[in-house]
Amino acid sequence: MEAAGPPTQPPAPHPLVAPLSFLLGKWRGEGEGTFPSIAPFRYGEEILFSHHPSKPVISYTQRTWKAASGDPMHAESGYWRPRPDGSVEVVIAQSTGLTEVQTGSYDSEKKTVTLQSELIGNAAKVKQITRAFQVVDGELSYVVQMATITNSLQPHLKALLKRI
Ligand code: HEM
Repeated sequence: MEAAGPPTQPPAPHPLVAPLSFLLGKWRGEGEGTFPSIAPFRYGEEILFSHHPSKPVISYTQRTWKAASGDPMHAESGYWRPRPDGSVEVVIAQSTGLTEVQTGSYDSEKKTVTLQSELIGNAAKVKQITRAFQVVDGELSYVVQMATITNSLQPHLKALLKRI
């Protein structure tokens, strides 16, 4: 019989995913939404970044809810695909029907990722989307900006989440 040892360590991530491993796990927090054409709002949010070491891909799922009532709001999911040249490609399907391909870069020392839309599909109003993520002191924050047919690129969302 095998001797009882220390608890097993999680397997090392795929080498392409390793520099983005600061994102991995489940996060929960709160955010606020703004845009010139809408009333500001507050929301709760959960994000899961998961990964299997055999694939150079991070699975991404996000859901949000109304801060006041807990009723569901926007949700989205997709795949983060770090590339051998050090860039990252992200594909996202939103619950509104909008689809995004984003590309960008990351800094594993500063724990930042910056993305901008390469392609937006099935959108009535949205022309451009940027997403910037940062992990500081174990907290994940992000800013999402968008440009629409009527407004230039500016913040729509910002949020702060803790690892759970
Ligand atoms: C409004 C896009 C994420 C909640 C809007 C509008 C657009 C938009 C185009 C209408 C603006 C206008 O009419 O000028 C997006 C995009 C997102 C995103 C591209 C992600 C990249 C979210 C999230 C939430 C949210 C995560 C909730 C947590 C709202 C609300 C409004 C709104 C409450 C105003 C009411 C409404 O029109 O439904 N969004 N949104 N959005 N968004 Fe977002």
